[in-house]
Amino acid sequence: MPTEETSVQEALENIQPSKISVRGVTKSFRSSRRRLVALDDVSLDLAEGEFVVLVGPSGCGKSTLLNVIAGLERPDTGEVLVDGTAVGNPGRDRMLMFQDAALFPWLDVEGNVLFGLRLKPNLDRKARREVATFYLRMVGLEEFRRAAIHELSGGMKQRVALARSLAPNPRVLLMDEPFGALDAMTREQLYRDLQEIWQARRKTILFVTHNVREAVCLGDRVVLMTPRPGRVREQFPVHLPRPRDISGIDVARLASQITATLGRHLERVADGGES
Ligand SMILES: Nc1ncnc2c1ncn2[C@@H]1O[C@H](COP(=O)(O)OP(=O)(O)OP(=O)(O)O)[C@@H](O)[C@H]1O
Ligand SMILES: [Mg+2]
Repeated sequence: MPTEETSVQEALENIQPSKISVRGVTKSFRSSRRRLVALDDVSLDLAEGEFVVLVGPSGCGKSTLLNVIAGLERPDTGEVLVDGTAVGNPGRDRMLMFQDAALFPWLDVEGNVLFGLRLKPNLDRKARREVATFYLRMVGLEEFRRAAIHELSGGMKQRVALARSLAPNPRVLLMDEPFGALDAMTREQLYRDLQEIWQARRKTILFVTHNVREAVCLGDRVVLMTPRPGRVREQFPVHLPRPRDISGIDVARLASQITATLGRHLERVADGGES
């Protein structure tokens, strides 16, 4: 049996982030009247520790792709490999963070973070609390550990959700528009926090947004998707130094280039110029 101290150290040590390979994934949804192709032959690779951002208009399949990688949806064809192994079910190695913080209102702040740790059998209660404290401190909410969820602002809720996702020390963090509902100032703080956390605690991150500036501010690479059917259109590496500022001139320049490219693709789709 490991000692408590070893367990906490193990829980907090930097683990090797995962490599993800999405290969030829197609996913359609059937309704009574029609069949909708949400993902059409999507392939995408993420290197270990890479921060990739998916952008694209509403309905292009971003959430569907995240859910397939998380193991919440099964593709019709194709597969997702995480470190070479096909994804079947959801796993603790891949944490999904939703657009709304999705916290448990019957638990306090610390209880929500501890919830993420419930599947760590080698940690006893005291060790789990130490790990929870570590992440609450990281997101600046240590003083609020006893607060009820309804007492928190939207930005604070997102921080709790971030701490809860980080606490099990996942190799992959899947983030579906996590900051969409927040005001600009809170979002900017969270961009800084997330870049810092990603650099300190190595993770492979796939982050979804329809905000192109946000994508450029955060990503090592921006992947552009278009709808009907949902496809990966183009990819843009981002070589700007970190930490990046969302209002920086270089971020704005690349963002407008990506937005223009997206516009051209959407015109083509609207003209019916492609299948
Ligand atoms: N469970 C479902 N049943 C039926 N259709 C679905 C289901 N989930 C997604 N879709 C459809 O698949 C398409 C892609 O949806 P998805 O949620 O992946 O888009 P998105 O890019 O995340 O959009 P948004 O930016 O609005 O969140 C949409 O047309 C949507 O209506
Ligand atoms: Mg979505």
